Amino acid sequence: MRDINQFTITEAVKKSFRTEEGSRFEFLLHKMLDHLHDFTRETNLTHDEWMRVLNFLYDCGKISTPERHEFILLSDVIGFSALVDMINTRGGATEGSNLGPFYLENAPTKELGADLAGEREGALVVVHGIVRHILGQPLPGAIVDTWQADGSGTYPIQEQERGQDKFDLRGIFKTDEQGRYYYTTVLPKPYTVPDDGPVGELLRAGKRHNWRAPHLHFMLRAEGMRTNVTEVFFENTQYIDNDAVFGVRKSLIGKVEPYKADKVGDLPLERKPDAMLHFDFVMAPAD
Ligand code: BEZ
Ligand code: FE
Repeated sequence: MRDINQFTITEAVKKSFRTEEGSRFEFLLHKMLDHLHDFTRETNLTHDEWMRVLNFLYDCGKISTPERHEFILLSDVIGFSALVDMINTRGGATEGSNLGPFYLENAPTKELGADLAGEREGALVVVHGIVRHILGQPLPGAIVDTWQADGSGTYPIQEQERGQDKFDLRGIFKTDEQGRYYYTTVLPKPYTVPDDGPVGELLRAGKRHNWRAPHLHFMLRAEGMRTNVTEVFFENTQYIDNDAVFGVRKSLIGKVEPYKADKVGDLPLERKPDAMLHFDFVMAPAD
């Protein structure tokens, strides 16, 4: 190792890890070292730049708490999370999209047709559709777990000090024998990702905003199927073409239209809606 230089160091570092030959860990570690070292050589990284990166990561760690994970936010705004979502979408299945920080396990189970909006102001929309297998057949008994921001762009979990219930505006539904899900809610408004930390500084340095296009979150689960985490967006809404975390995909944009009972079918709804949003989900079999 004595005659190590900028061209031989990569192999030397790789060899220094006694990883299991042919393992996934070895593959990922070697690739990461290859790319990191190539990046360093290609950019002629200076000491100042190197330290700036390390201090940036240090600051991300410093501001992180169990509720606030600045590294995930970093991954989101540089399209790393979106890329992982894209790569892990199975052919024919609904495209995956950002989980975000506000998912809660054990949201309340709701009957189909229930209303999530309660007393909130704003147009009431029925969200409905069918959950299908990639081969086309409906999936009865599939779990549709949903959560969202409200008509002011806030998740109730962020407003607990003001007396909001963290489980508000979320629910777990089970599709009926025709694979249908349906419920009413209010449409969420655009929402900002936190910008009071190092990721915010990065956004400002790149003259970027921190707004997310309005969206509904979904996690779909079904026996023998691959769990699908995704989001549904709405046509003609703000930030649909420049979502801060690159969550929008063409296939995930739904259309909100005035409610017409004959278009929705005979759905027993707790409240009469003003608008409707039809969105079908497609699930792939588990690997
Ligand atoms: C969200 O969709 O709620 C979200 C996503 C990424 C960062 C922050 C929030
Ligand atoms: Fe969200």
